[in-house]
Amino acid sequence: MTDYAAIERDVRAAVNEATSSREAMTAAVRTLKTRVPDYSWVGIYLLDGAELVLGPYLGKPSPHTRIPLGRGICGAAATERSTIVVDDVNGDPRYLACSLDTQSEIVVPIMRGADVLGEIDIDSDRRAAFAAPDRQLLEAVAAMLSEKMLSEIL
Ligand code: SME
Repeated sequence: MTDYAAIERDVRAAVNEATSSREAMTAAVRTLKTRVPDYSWVGIYLLDGAELVLGPYLGKPSPHTRIPLGRGICGAAATERSTIVVDDVNGDPRYLACSLDTQSEIVVPIMRGADVLGEIDIDSDRRAAFAAPDRQLLEAVAAMLSEKMLSEIL
C-alpha cells in the first residue's frame, strides 16, 4: 500500500535539503515517481509569460515541452488556478496526448497567492488512478515548492 504520509515527509526532507528550487523540483519529481507505482510520468511545468515550459520530469520524453495557457489539461489547470483530475483522458477533449498508454491525469498548480508559478503534472497508465490522498499529497508538494521558490528570491 502507498504510504502517503511517509512520501510527503520524504519529499519535504528532500526539498529542504535542496540548495535551489530547481534541485528541489528534481528531487520532488524523483521521490514521487519512484514511490508511487501508478505515477507513470511525473513532471513540473513552469509558467513563462503565457506558456507553461517543461522543467524536471521522469518518464517518456513528452512532445509538449511548451504549452500555451489556453491548451491542454495543463493550460486549463493554470487558467482555473485549481487542481484538475481526469479519470479518463480519452474522454476529455482538452487532453494533449503524451503517451498512448496514459489513461488518467492530475494537474496541480503551484501557486503564490493568486499567481500561478507552475504546476505538477502526473500521468498514469491506469484509469482513475488519482484519488483524494494523491490530490492532498500533491497539493502539499506544490506548497513546498512554492515556498522554496520564494526563499530563492528573498
Ligand atoms: N496531457 C497534458 C500535456 C502534458 S503531457 O501529459 C506530459 C495536457 O493535456 O495538458
